[in-house]
Order: sequence, then C-alpha cells, then structure tokens
Amino acid sequence: MATTKFRDTVSPYSKPRPSPPPEDYLHQKYLSDLTLKQDARLPVLKLALFGVGRAGTIHLSNIVANRRVKLVYIVDDIESKWASIKNYWHLDDVIFLSSKQADKVYNDPSIDAVVVASPTFTHEGIVRKALEAKKAVFCEKPIAEDDANSVKCYETARKVGRPLFCAFNRRFDPSYSSVKDRVRNGEIGHVHVIKTVARDSPLPTLDYIKTSGGIFHDCIVHDIDLITWILGEFPIKVAVQAHAHIPEIKAIGDYDTVVISLYFPSGTLGSIDISRNSAYGYDQRLEVFGPKGMITADNEQPLHCVTTQYGYAGPTTPPIWYSFPSRFANGYRRELDHFIDVVHGKVESIVQPKETLAVIKIATACLESARTSKVVEISLFCEWILGEDGGLYSAQSA
Ligand SMILES: NC(=O)c1ccc[n+]([C@@H]2O[C@H](COP(=O)([O-])OP(=O)(O)OC[C@H]3O[C@@H](n4cnc5c(N)ncnc54)[C@H](O)[C@@H]3O)[C@@H](O)[C@H]2O)c1
Repeated sequence: MATTKFRDTVSPYSKPRPSPPPEDYLHQKYLSDLTLKQDARLPVLKLALFGVGRAGTIHLSNIVANRRVKLVYIVDDIESKWASIKNYWHLDDVIFLSSKQADKVYNDPSIDAVVVASPTFTHEGIVRKALEAKKAVFCEKPIAEDDANSVKCYETARKVGRPLFCAFNRRFDPSYSSVKDRVRNGEIGHVHVIKTVARDSPLPTLDYIKTSGGIFHDCIVHDIDLITWILGEFPIKVAVQAHAHIPEIKAIGDYDTVVISLYFPSGTLGSIDISRNSAYGYDQRLEVFGPKGMITADNEQPLHCVTTQYGYAGPTTPPIWYSFPSRFANGYRRELDHFIDVVHGKVESIVQPKETLAVIKIATACLESARTSKVVEISLFCEWILGEDGGLYSAQSA
C-alpha cells in the first residue's frame, strides 16, 4: 500500500519506448541486422587467410560469419588438416594452398585482402608480397620482427596505397574502448596512474614461445598498445624487472614474469604486470586513476549473471574466461568489421602506423631495461618523419 501513491497513471504504451543503451553493442548489431539498413551496397570483399592455428581459427570463424566477406583461399603448411577444416566449416569452394603455392593468392586479381595469422617470423614476407600485389592486409601483431622491417612494410603500404592494419584486438574490446572514451572525455581528469595486469592462460607451448619473438614483442606489446592508446601519449623512459621461473623458458633466454614502470612526458606513471602462466584463467585487468576518480575494467566471467553460490566452504563464484579466444571474442569480431570498413574507405584505421612502430620501439626498450637492469630512455621518432597520411616513415625513404 505504501507505494500505491507512486502508481503510474499513464500506460507505458502511451510513452516513448526507451532506446537501447549504446553500451549494448550486441543489440546495436541486432538492430542493424533487423532493420537491414546499409549504405550504398558495397561489394563483398574476397579474402585469403594465411595460417589456421590458434589465432587463425578465431579469424576463420569470424570470416565465415561475416556477410561482408567471402573466403577464397586458405594458406597453411599443415596439409593433413586441410580436409578437416574444409569439412568442419563447410568450405567447399575454398582453395587450400601451402605457403610455397601462395603466389596464386598474390597473382589472383579478384582477391581484395589477406588476413595474416601465420607465425610471427613469416609476417613481413607475406605482408610485403600481398601489398605489392595491391591487396589490403590485416596482420596479426606484430607486423614484422623488428621496427626497421615494420617501417618497410608501412612504406610499401604507403607506396601502393593499400591499407595495412595491425590487429591490436584489445582496442576493439567493448570494455577497454569504453574506458578509453571515458578517459578521453576527462571523466577522471589528467591521468596520474594507469595499470594493466595481463596473465596468460594456458601456458603457450614451448614451440610457440620459441618462435613468438619473446614475451616483450609477443605479449607485452598488447599492454603497451592499450596504455598508450588510452593516454594518447608515449613513455619517455621505462624500468623493467623480469624473471623466468619456468626452466624451459629460462633455457631459451626468455622470461615468464615481468613488471614494467613507464614514465610519460605529462607526468603520468604506468605499470604493466605480466605473466605467461596463470593457473586460474586469463587474468586481464585495467585500472586508470586520476584526480577526479578511478575507472577499472575487471575480469569478465562467462556466467556473469550467476554471481555467488554459498556452501560450507564459503562463497564461490564462477570462473573467469579461460583464455584469449573467449575473453576477446567480441574484440576479434569487431576488429574484422573495422578492417572491412577501412578497406571500403568508410573510416580511417584506428591503429595508426606511428602507434604500431612506437609500440615496437617501447617493447625493445623494455627488453633492454630487463637485460641491463637500467632505466632506458626512449627517443621515439628521431629517425622517422610524418607522412602525408599521418603515418610515420623512415627519414631515409622520404
Ligand atoms: N592477437 C592475439 O590475441 C593473438 C593470439 C595468438 C596469436 N597471435 C599472433 O598470431 C600469430 C600466429 O600465432 P598462433 O598462436 O595462431 O600460431 P599457431 O602455431 O597456432 O598457428 C600458426 C599456423 O600458421 C601455419 N603456417 C606456418 N607457416 C605458414 C606460412 N608461411 N604461411 C601460412 N601459414 C603458415 C601453421 O601451419 C599453423 O597452422 C602470431 O604472430 C601471434 O603473435 C595473436
């Protein structure tokens, strides 16, 4: 009875219906599918996918589900899995090639773009050949194994006038991109501290780690990219402590546990706490602190609406996501859509060459600091110049 005085006298049918919040990105996608609204009909992009391993399988599943692309070729050297891939994904029309036969892709004028998800050491060669054949390129990070070769890839892209997109998937995660928007809207003021925790799960195989480029260029680049993208600023010095607890990782001269301090020109301090091996799932957290408040992105849980179960052993909650394919599933899907928009010239890539190159340089400085136990100063762009398209290119080739 006490609340009857608040009873609504107007039927909800007589009121405007509340709009879906912009944060409900799944409903936004559903609405576009439901209303069938589209710009002038754009051609379906014809694609080739290089590499169907851990990352390539994620991209394959998104490509198959995306109405704006058609997969024409898969290039992968493990021929024994071609038949199962074809059968599982119903890829009856897709042509399978080994890397030795990849010229067929480059020489096929109907191919608009290639997606590169092969091992890191193969990226540069595929990227440059594909660009020279006038294909747009979506490349898993990193574009190349070092900054000099990455610059060459971007130079080739500029020369041929085709997009080269470095797939920093975390930028497309709805939670992380919302943190970035809030920070950039000034909701917490000038950022004083930004932190990431990134603990991988499961421990990658030793075979993978050996060809990964090492923890700095394989894993930490994601955190460096996320932090510098949110801040819109690059650090000028880094101090790093790193250790290998796992003997097999120590034996190949890599690290499994790293803590990084970053110092930014505006006075912002950053920290990255990373491990190759988390026993409790894929631990990915972000915190940004400023004079007006703090924003955090915590771990996601698959069963996020089942919060707590109580028992004699105390309360328990569902686990966090096990690994990157599930935690960043939305990000991977959205980055492919972004790439398609970039190829159609609808939007500019949100991952700019100067940012990718800076990330590689910062990761290299972090590795040097880990090896020398010294603070390493970073002078980022002395040998690069700004191109007409806003990218940075090596001064020699300008
Ligand atoms: N963004 C992310 O979250 C993320 C996650 C994992 C891996 N990656 C990146 O993806 C790339 C692949 O890593 P992965 O873990 O999927 O490796 P993987 O070893 O699981 O798969 C690589 C696949 O490429 C195939 N391959 C080998 N040489 C090739 C060539 N020359 N041409 C075409 N295919 C070839 C292999 O047969 C294999 O199937 C790496 O560069 C890695 O840094 C990114």
